[in-house]
Amino acid sequence: MCGIVGYVGAPGSGGALDVVVDGLARLEYRGYDSAGVALAGPGGLATRKKAGKLANLRALLEAAPLEPASTGIGHTRWATHGGPTDANAHPHLAGSGDDEVAVIHNGIIENFAALRAELEAKGVELASETDTEVAAHVLAGHVAAVRGEGLDGGEALAEALRRTCRRLEGAFTLLAVRSGDPSTVVGARRSSPLVVGLGEGETFLGSDVAAFIGRTRDALALGQDEVVTITAEGATITTFDGEPVEGSPFHVDWDVEAAEKGGYPSFMAKEIDEQPRAVADTLLGRSDAEGRLVLDEVRISTEELAAVDKVVVISCGTSSYAGQVAKYAVEHWCRIPVEVEYAHEFRYRDPVVDERTLVVSISQSGETMDTLMAVRHARELGARTVSICNTNGATIPRESDAVLYTHAGPEIAVASTKAFLAQITACYLLGLYLGALRGTASPELVKEVLEDLHAMPDKVQQVLDGLERVREIARFMADSRSVLFLGRHVGYPVALEGALKLKELAYIHAEGFAAGELKHGPIALIDAGQPVFVVVPPPSSPHGLHGKVVSNIQEIRARGARTLVIAEEGDEGVVPFAEEVIRVPACPPLLMPLLTVVPLQVFAAELAAAKGLDVDQPRNLAKSVTVE
Ligand code: F6R
Repeated sequence: MCGIVGYVGAPGSGGALDVVVDGLARLEYRGYDSAGVALAGPGGLATRKKAGKLANLRALLEAAPLEPASTGIGHTRWATHGGPTDANAHPHLAGSGDDEVAVIHNGIIENFAALRAELEAKGVELASETDTEVAAHVLAGHVAAVRGEGLDGGEALAEALRRTCRRLEGAFTLLAVRSGDPSTVVGARRSSPLVVGLGEGETFLGSDVAAFIGRTRDALALGQDEVVTITAEGATITTFDGEPVEGSPFHVDWDVEAAEKGGYPSFMAKEIDEQPRAVADTLLGRSDAEGRLVLDEVRISTEELAAVDKVVVISCGTSSYAGQVAKYAVEHWCRIPVEVEYAHEFRYRDPVVDERTLVVSISQSGETMDTLMAVRHARELGARTVSICNTNGATIPRESDAVLYTHAGPEIAVASTKAFLAQITACYLLGLYLGALRGTASPELVKEVLEDLHAMPDKVQQVLDGLERVREIARFMADSRSVLFLGRHVGYPVALEGALKLKELAYIHAEGFAAGELKHGPIALIDAGQPVFVVVPPPSSPHGLHGKVVSNIQEIRARGARTLVIAEEGDEGVVPFAEEVIRVPACPPLLMPLLTVVPLQVFAAELAAAKGLDVDQPRNLAKSVTVE
């Protein structure tokens, strides 16, 4: 939510604008309500900003070019305080002369109303409705004060920012440049992402590594409540109180091609196609030649894990549907109760959690504020916490006891696809690990499931190779006003995910239901022509589930529904009642979501494309929701 870039190149190199705009292009998935840049050069600060997507800023920069500079900051916004207008776009300016500052911000400053009133009482006139501009004026006040105390250069701005941060409440990342010091950018973070990129004679700041991946893969993660100063030579970090600290260095294990479209029409199309690899890479190195699970990353003692009496999975959106799949698998293999809860509900309902609870958070970005707050709350209550995360060095894994990384690679399209499959895969691994440790999953079972899992990437590929008919159906249905999704057992979270994908990509009303719930109300929605996707459990499912869902298809078909059925190859039971049958290869029932969700992703993306919508950047959304 909001993308932030900072850059300092060698003095006189003059290339800051290109680097910053390039970084913004890679971060645009974090918010696209407006974009802006500020350059710091010998002549002081110069800014350009524009409502709408980055393309609008680029057009403005062409019409009104900036003088070359070696230092700059840039921002792409997801609006919180104040609408998506030119005036509310970042950067915001404050101060004057050598002490003018330009500030960009991600997050929410919770005490901004009080600070704004304070500034207005002093006669400061604010040009926007944003909390950011308030922070800029507070900073400018401190800059004037510290310069009055004799501080100069980068240290003046860093000290002023530390003083500013001590006055701010809420969650924020702030970057600032000062007119009188064109060789420094400073940044601060509290509960909101910021990483440093260390190049050869150039240094970067970014909301995530995508901001600078084209120029360096060496990075430093910052801790909570820290201020960083970058120059062309490198970075220095302190706490908000001025104590020097070391950042945590890490090397990014993907490259610039991974963050580009590579010939695909959209990032989403590319990421859907990358799913076999996302599953394979998440499994890679996590079992040995004897078929035993190797999860060294889960650094919680086996005694503690064996003593766990409840698992709580916390997450949001698509990640929470991965959690719902996990519930079926973990309860089955571990015989331990699993609660799955939205992180935002968990945090505020006085949950029953103690030191025998294992709290598993699932987050692609590792920065979702609701999930982060829930993890912190769980720790306060004494729980042990494991993070399943796709982003190296992100805040949630850093604040958890252990992390199991998914290896989906960078996910740029705002709506999640490949990360979802990788999350489900990681949940299976964690479930098997717990089951093995607790003695509820025998070595033979673990070995068998691992073999089944290793066969899944090829099966996902087979699904992807056979989706032409799904694309045709999607194009044909571009005018639909409502689509329903039914599923049962692990097919139920798949139905929820299918509905979410369609809502967010194609702006069509969509609902997912547990198929067993149909007769308890939702069947009233069925009338002639209502499209309904049904995710059918394989005939090998326990408890006659397959037959029960086939009956559901029959019931809705009898009432005129258009039945779009996703069923295992060879399942002939569905044929008489299905208008269309979409086939997926056979696999054990618990692993089915890795296959059955794929046609639903492709359906939503294709239908959105047929409507002429931007599948990578759906309206009103942002990739990483870093405010509560
Ligand atoms: C939907 C989607 C969102 C995210 C949710 C959590 O396609 O992408 O629902 O799943 O915002 O995000 P993470 O996983 O980054 O915590």
